[in-house]
Amino acid sequence: MNRITALLVLLLTWMPSGDVFSQSQMHREGNADVQSFDSEWRFRRFGLQADGSQMPEPAGLEQSGLDDHQWTQLDLPHDWAIAGPFRIELSGNTGKLPWKGIGWYRKKFVVDTKDAGRRIFLDFDGAMAYAKIWVNGKYVGTWPYGYSSFRMDITPFLNFGKDNTVAVRLDTESWDSRWYPGAGLYRHVWLVKTQPVHTAHWGTYITTDNISERQADVCLKVNIQNQGRKHMTSQVTTELFESPDGKNMGRKVAYFKPQSVQISPDSTRELSAHLTLSAPRLWTLETPAVYIARTTVNTPGMKPDIYNTVFGIRKLEFTHGKGFLLNGKRTEIKGVCLHHDLGSLGAAINTAALRRQLTIMKNMGCNAIRTSHNPPAPELLELADQMGLLVWDESFDAWKRGKRKNDYNKLFPEWHEKDLVAMVHRDRNHPAVIIWSIGNEVMDQQDVAITRELTDIVHREDPTRPVSNAYNDPDGGRASGAAACLDLMGVNYFFSKQPQWDNDERFKNKPTMGSETSSCVSSRGTYFFGTNYENYQVTSYDVAWPGWGCSPDEQFRINARYPHLLGEFVWTGFDYLGEPTPFNSDETNLLNFRTDSTKRKELEKALEEIRKKNPPSRSSYFGIVDLCGFPKDRFYSYQAHWRPDYPMAHIMPHWTWPGRKDSITPVHVYTSGDMAELFLNGESKGKKYKRPGEDFRLVWDSVVYQPGELRVVAYKNGKVWATDTMRTVGPRQKLLLLPETNTVKADGVDLCYIKLLVCDENNRMVPDASDNLNFSIEGPGEIVATDNGDATCLISFSSLVRPAYNGMAQVIIKAKKGAGGKIKVLAQTDTGLKKAETIINIK
Ligand code: GAL
Repeated sequence: MNRITALLVLLLTWMPSGDVFSQSQMHREGNADVQSFDSEWRFRRFGLQADGSQMPEPAGLEQSGLDDHQWTQLDLPHDWAIAGPFRIELSGNTGKLPWKGIGWYRKKFVVDTKDAGRRIFLDFDGAMAYAKIWVNGKYVGTWPYGYSSFRMDITPFLNFGKDNTVAVRLDTESWDSRWYPGAGLYRHVWLVKTQPVHTAHWGTYITTDNISERQADVCLKVNIQNQGRKHMTSQVTTELFESPDGKNMGRKVAYFKPQSVQISPDSTRELSAHLTLSAPRLWTLETPAVYIARTTVNTPGMKPDIYNTVFGIRKLEFTHGKGFLLNGKRTEIKGVCLHHDLGSLGAAINTAALRRQLTIMKNMGCNAIRTSHNPPAPELLELADQMGLLVWDESFDAWKRGKRKNDYNKLFPEWHEKDLVAMVHRDRNHPAVIIWSIGNEVMDQQDVAITRELTDIVHREDPTRPVSNAYNDPDGGRASGAAACLDLMGVNYFFSKQPQWDNDERFKNKPTMGSETSSCVSSRGTYFFGTNYENYQVTSYDVAWPGWGCSPDEQFRINARYPHLLGEFVWTGFDYLGEPTPFNSDETNLLNFRTDSTKRKELEKALEEIRKKNPPSRSSYFGIVDLCGFPKDRFYSYQAHWRPDYPMAHIMPHWTWPGRKDSITPVHVYTSGDMAELFLNGESKGKKYKRPGEDFRLVWDSVVYQPGELRVVAYKNGKVWATDTMRTVGPRQKLLLLPETNTVKADGVDLCYIKLLVCDENNRMVPDASDNLNFSIEGPGEIVATDNGDATCLISFSSLVRPAYNGMAQVIIKAKKGAGGKIKVLAQTDTGLKKAETIINIK
């Protein structure tokens, strides 16, 4: 060790942990000097307008001298289409929202003269779609795939100490999607400053090995980039800190031996280092411990360049015989697929909304998320790391052959490697990510060459996780040899074929999982008798699914019968915008019947019918919870099965049926118990028992409706375990506003979700109420959106007036940035019900 290095080591070892260079709290992972670049943009829409008219796009919109003061001023993240209006003539498949258009964003900014000599970058977490970027009128670059994160080096275009203008052009007219993609700068943008010699973008890669409770090997790779003009020798040190939450640094626990590196201008050098950490805190689903690695590059004549990496220590094993093991423990994957929209907020990322989504899923017992069918916002991975959720990280919905004219097939030839590398480099340090997916039901899933190429790219960038592909033609995938290129077989639906696959040599020894299962459809709080569909709603008895799907119960049966399967990802956790099956006319549905011509013909006819009728449906029915996040009955089916130790019982349907006196009204119960007895007005309707592995709901299908009280008592191992009661409610009398949290932060981001119930005089929700509601707010806050979970409701999410749907609605508010005090939220009807108000305190 030379003297300088020795001194440095001494210094670093003496450094009080976490408070050097103000790094005790990271703003964001990556380079230390990262500032939010979200505020005060100007926006204007050209091309297709929200009402369907055209606005010509003039030339020169990138010029710095352009007068944009009449453009709309806004902060990011921004989805230009979510306010609508919904237009009945637009396709339900993409949410009946006017997302196609050309969007221009412009922002003025100053970079201090003292930063001259540093490298200045703009990091885009995602831009929908076909982003082109200019600074001061000069073209910087492009990134077309709207779901990828990317970095633009703007250093050469800047005037330090003076006004600069960045202009971004987005084009969704050139993009096609099978669901609502959103539009605009819908994720965060960051201004990043580094020293000329610095840790490169996503330039660290940390892997762990030989993991036990006693110790773990931690391997580090760092890419150091010299963007200066001179040949340089830098000292590179990486220290490891515990982190209580993935943002704050705790105790320093170790450091890698400092290394000296010589780098010539315009080049990158990779360094490797290794250490053994004793008594590591493992990342588990129950206690998801993470560490922060702080890499410091010291170069003569430059300030230290610091780069933070969050990582976790956990062992993944994917076996054919014993399923998936996390830290040596068999862990059934109880997952859900999620599209990226946040319901009434659209595609615009909001951490509070996403945290709420994931919390609702976790409460149900879900332990894994599939980011169908694209790289997610980085926040999803940060939250998954912190909350202990596993992630199936997915790249594409199409390869070379598209499902739609202008989907990823247009980008594939030039961009697939860049997009795939961007996903893996950005996400590979996250302990939550356990599987890479190179595609979903792609048309070319039998193409051996492409499958091998994509798998090789991912293996090259991260050999520590399995690569998978989600097949809707697994037989074809096997027969062609394409599936043999993968580490793990993702199968969407058709699990009745499992016995056949189990006896097929080509399927042996390849871990398999349900990358997509069930696709059950329902409308929250809606029950039909003798039919499953009415008025573009679907019964909530959980008995309806498209031809390729099955009931949750059937999938549970399959999972129990074939325990070597790793688990499942249910389609879907939340309802999402677009794809309102069974009322969607999307031809790509036919792809699910590649080999079954009879079913294909039936579906072709059904799609034709739907097209003629043009249903009002604009969001999905697949969700286990509705678009507001309100649980449908199915939520309790999963909770009963996924959380067997959590005492719960849930009755469906509700018990207010004025027209059904003396009519047979089937009662179904989901419970984590093993047996239950049902009582109607105190009279037993009998006991029902679950056959293990066979029954996942208890059914009393000959109950004759009488108003009053329906009560279920569930037992487990002979003891009372849980109860649930449904009562016939009285007439509508009043409104109730029930905030999910009583406080909201005034950071311009935090949200407060408030549930509205239409109630009888005893505060019991009236299950079919559809009163028209008026929301208002007093104090330093604003209503961000309202919704009611009705997939056919074409009222804009920004409207303050909307009907309740099956007794419920939702209002989402936020506090004005920097404000204090209280916010009052009010709801009233013009139908004479007692109005409601609630107070939210600003934190
Ligand atoms: C699958 C597809 C999903 C969704 C689903 C609906 O085939 O991968 O994106 O369309 O069907 O059931």
